[in-house]
Amino acid sequence: MAKRILVTGGAGFLGSHLCERLLDEGHDVLCVDNYFTGTKRNLDALVGHPHFEVMRHDVTFPLYVEVDEIYNLACPASPVHYQHDPVQTTKTSVHGAINMLGLAKRTRAKIFQASTSEVYGDPQVHPQPESYQGNVNPIGPRACYDEGKRCAETLFFDYHRQLGVRIRVARIFNTYGPRMHPDDGRVVSNFVVQALRGDPITIYGDGKQTRSFCYVDDLIEGFVRLMAAPDEVTGPINLGNPGEFTIRELADKVIELTNSSSKIVRKPVPIDDPRQRQPDIRLAKKVLGWKPTVPLEKGLERTIAYFDRLLSTG
Ligand SMILES: NC(=O)c1ccc[n+]([C@@H]2O[C@H](COP(=O)([O-])OP(=O)(O)OC[C@H]3O[C@@H](n4cnc5c(N)ncnc54)[C@H](O)[C@@H]3O)[C@@H](O)[C@H]2O)c1
Repeated sequence: MAKRILVTGGAGFLGSHLCERLLDEGHDVLCVDNYFTGTKRNLDALVGHPHFEVMRHDVTFPLYVEVDEIYNLACPASPVHYQHDPVQTTKTSVHGAINMLGLAKRTRAKIFQASTSEVYGDPQVHPQPESYQGNVNPIGPRACYDEGKRCAETLFFDYHRQLGVRIRVARIFNTYGPRMHPDDGRVVSNFVVQALRGDPITIYGDGKQTRSFCYVDDLIEGFVRLMAAPDEVTGPINLGNPGEFTIRELADKVIELTNSSSKIVRKPVPIDDPRQRQPDIRLAKKVLGWKPTVPLEKGLERTIAYFDRLLSTG
């Protein structure tokens, strides 16, 4: 049955893919965004769709609409963006969560929170299961994001326990794909853009730190499955790709797939940059029957094709 679904942060990287998927399923989609990091270009293919509506709105202010489901994605997601105005970042996570949970309570909507692997901080457990409580520096430059997201999780669980709101909390690990920002400093977009431009590829430290990369379509499938799961499946639940690669391996793969002449250069490691990050997705496999299916090479090819078009059209 068609539902009225609100997607906050819908003009962003993940949000635009989610809107597209929900429209394909026949739902009525309301995209809310203040365009801080999102762009109208991400929604080009959707504008004009009879079941799609866009509203410019900042989630730190209350929103009064009638909906059946809410996906709360609004929040800058990369260090360059979330550290640009750290106070606003925490407000977006915390006030945004309060406003969207208030809306869910009033409309009795189910609500999904895009949380993050950053709630684990620099983990001392590897890979990270949902039961791991994390190692976050509360006063460092990343804290506006990490602690904001942790507080949002607290609010979700208190609205659930205290007020009976139906919640779904996903802890998202590194995701990549078309419509990532070309200049957000995230490792995949950085490497692809540098390689396509023939610029040096910057590696922080020795390049032996590992990351896992999930292709966007796999992640969105996880979102939709989590929202559709029975109400006792509240999460938090890890969504990500457990395949682990060193940063150096990623750089070499990108150079190979782009046929680039770029050379690798090294820079100092930023403060609080984690050494290892890998999701434990046993819970998602068990309760959602979900696991990623797109191999890194395939996902990178699609991402490279997107950036190639973007850079050549300006
Ligand atoms: N992409 C990832 O790898 C990843 C990993 C972990 C968590 N997440 C989470 O997923 C969500 C989406 O991330 P993304 O990668 O698509 O980032 P993004 O920056 O592309 O999207 C975020 C969207 O939120 C909007 N936004 C920011 N502040 C807002 C506000 N106050 N009011 C309304 N809209 C606002 C931005 O304009 C943007 O369109 C974020 O909450 C992020 O924390 C993403």
